[in-house]
Amino acid sequence: MGVILTALGRYLPEKIMTNKELETIVDTSDEWIRTRTGIHERRIAAPEESTSVLAIKAAQETIRKRGIDPAEIDLIVVATMMADSPFPSTACKVQHAVGAVNAAAFDVAAACSGFVYTLETAAQYIKAGTMKNALVIGSEVYSRFLDWEDRATCVLFGDGAAAAFLEADNVDHFLGCVLRSDGSGESLLHMPAGGTAVPATAETVENRQHFLKMKGLELFQQVVPMVCDALLDTADKAGVDLSEVALIVPHQANVHIIEAVSDALGIPMEKFMINIEKYGNTSAASVPLALIDAHEQNRLQPGDLVLMVGFGAGLTCAASLIRWSPAFVA
Ligand code: ACO
Repeated sequence: MGVILTALGRYLPEKIMTNKELETIVDTSDEWIRTRTGIHERRIAAPEESTSVLAIKAAQETIRKRGIDPAEIDLIVVATMMADSPFPSTACKVQHAVGAVNAAAFDVAAACSGFVYTLETAAQYIKAGTMKNALVIGSEVYSRFLDWEDRATCVLFGDGAAAAFLEADNVDHFLGCVLRSDGSGESLLHMPAGGTAVPATAETVENRQHFLKMKGLELFQQVVPMVCDALLDTADKAGVDLSEVALIVPHQANVHIIEAVSDALGIPMEKFMINIEKYGNTSAASVPLALIDAHEQNRLQPGDLVLMVGFGAGLTCAASLIRWSPAFVA
């Protein structure tokens, strides 16, 4: 059985936080953030907007665009590192809110690779014939776990959600993928406390251990070769040359990571979708948000080869090559 992507949807919080506004919060500058990262602004969720709220809105838009009865949905998978609470899963909250009464639902924790991991996980269920369709969602509210006193991290991330609908098809539009991990890089990007290893105490709160910690430069250096390998290996698996790919849609962590990958592989920057300036790093939401922008900017034509790649905490890295579909409903 083949798989086809038939709809996309998104939800972005209304509040736009510009670099200028960040200048009033930490010792930084619009110029530093733009030149070091490519980010101009990001969205910040309102207090009542948790990760599931964003995910539900992205899911509802996708369901509406596809025009499907929610009771027909077989599977809901949510990629997130920022669930409303440790349990239950965000996917179950989405399942209930959208009325997907017959769906299986679970979350995937693969950080900024989460959407690609999720997309391919769902695709495998459809290829195996276990499910006939799946709603996959990347949703993140990193702003709640950023240390707003740490200028090296708080300027990088933003909140958002986006979703894709996958269906069984006679023709397979999912042409190849790689899903990779390297747990030796755990300390490069993590949250030290709040789980079973270091449960929350007054001391962990006092020591700011419930915030995201990142060794940015080391992470940068490790992810570039990981991303290059994932792109090359995915194309190779699918029997495609990278030059045949119409658009690469990478995770939006830093424009200079994308430039380094472009240099290393000899692929011009015009072949990479970039929208980091608007949203910053939205982790699991960034690849589908960039895919939607690419579609809206008319950068995808039916039959085009689209190569998505995510990378991030874990470390994780994942790439997926799909053929853009004429059946796609915007
Ligand atoms: N404003 C002004 N100055 C700053 C800021 C800021 N916001 N942040 C750091 N600086 C300063 C530092 O203090 C340092 O000053 P010093 O030289 O006086 O010590 C200087 O700028 C350079 O700091 P670096 O950390 O070396 O800056 P770098 O150029 O490496 O950029 C960055 C940092 C943007 C984090 C970059 O390393 C990066 O993008 N790394 C990769 C991140 C990544 O891969 N994320 C993907 C995964 S995300 C996920 O999975 C959730």
